[in-house]
Amino acid sequence: MRYDKAIIIAYERVDVMAVKKSSIRVAVVGFGFMGRMHYGVWKRMKGAKVVALCDKDRTQFETTIKGGNLAGADESLDFGDALICDDFDQMLADVKPDVVDITLPTPLHPVLAIKALEQGISVLCEKPMALTSAACDQMIKAAKKAPNGAQLMIAQCLRFWPAFQFLKTLIDSGKYGKPLAASFRRYSTMPGWGKGKSWFADESRSGGVALDLHIHDADLVQFLFGLPTAVTSRATYHEDGHMQYISTLYDVGNITVTAEGSWCMAPTFGFEANYIVTFEKAVVVLDGKREKPLAIYPVKGDVIVPKLKPEEGYYYEIQWFLDKLRGKKVPCLTTPEASRNSVALIEAEKQSAKSGKTVKVRGK
Ligand SMILES: NC(=O)c1ccc[n+]([C@@H]2O[C@H](COP(=O)([O-])OP(=O)(O)OC[C@H]3O[C@@H](n4cnc5c(N)ncnc54)[C@H](O)[C@@H]3O)[C@@H](O)[C@H]2O)c1
Repeated sequence: MRYDKAIIIAYERVDVMAVKKSSIRVAVVGFGFMGRMHYGVWKRMKGAKVVALCDKDRTQFETTIKGGNLAGADESLDFGDALICDDFDQMLADVKPDVVDITLPTPLHPVLAIKALEQGISVLCEKPMALTSAACDQMIKAAKKAPNGAQLMIAQCLRFWPAFQFLKTLIDSGKYGKPLAASFRRYSTMPGWGKGKSWFADESRSGGVALDLHIHDADLVQFLFGLPTAVTSRATYHEDGHMQYISTLYDVGNITVTAEGSWCMAPTFGFEANYIVTFEKAVVVLDGKREKPLAIYPVKGDVIVPKLKPEEGYYYEIQWFLDKLRGKKVPCLTTPEASRNSVALIEAEKQSAKSGKTVKVRGK
């Protein structure tokens, strides 16, 4: 079975560590919605210190942002003794951080990540890794050649989210038999929590609903069931040509796996992400609008409500990267190659939606 391959959680140890200091010095670049989220998490990490915050728009440091689909992004602004700056190159030269955390619009991910890696600085970069798989390849190449053992991680956060890790544990353990079918949904209005006209609305900059939003579930499908060999997608397009909604059937062997992503929900609907996975001996449902948001409905016995780890995935992804940088043994939960392959998955999905045909996935 294909998914057997995906369920092996190998452990990896990093021999040459990028950082052997008591406190890892971090610069957060981009202080919009996700920059604030990551900054709030880094502040809570023992063994790391935010030494610089960089945003080309300095007024971002004066205002709180309301909105977004997640809690925690509008913390009060308290920067301690971190340097506040607006020029990335200057910041690297002045501060020489151990890690840059890139929370910038997607087109900037490759260029800034590569600059940092070339200087031996480790990079945590928000998803999607880049606008194209070719650009992802350039980032991977830079990471392989990086001095000081500098490392690259792409923040595909669902791999670290308790409700999704819980699902992976159920699949890997075979506790309820084999999975028969899985469906994942992610619904939102178009993100617009930034100032002015949001860059998300420009599909050439954000990659649109497929690359920006739905990639979360595409990456999750890869995490849970292995990289699909082919995809069959259907999409709905706005009259100006941008994609508003996508639905995909993934070829992962004997399991029927689908995911859909929407940026055309009414504002009154809000944000929603859920899944239903049917096993031979149970159905597992995540749905924040149910009385029991996450529950197992076994074929025999009572409904089970699992207890999850308390934090959001952002906390665990940053903790994982920090542990990895510090040379701790960490489970192999993600790699830059896997994040690259998720971008390739989306490329195949977009092609399939346009052509109406099944498209092979060009994974590496
Ligand atoms: N993991 C998640 O759940 C999640 C959620 C939302 C966004 N994201 C991703 O995070 C990234 C950032 O999204 P966002 O919502 O924070 O965007 P945003 O527009 O809120 O913030 C981007 C920030 O980058 C700054 N910026 C732009 N160019 C810059 C430059 N050259 N140098 C320094 N600063 C610059 C902008 O002024 C802005 O403050 C995107 O790739 C997006 O897809 C991930």
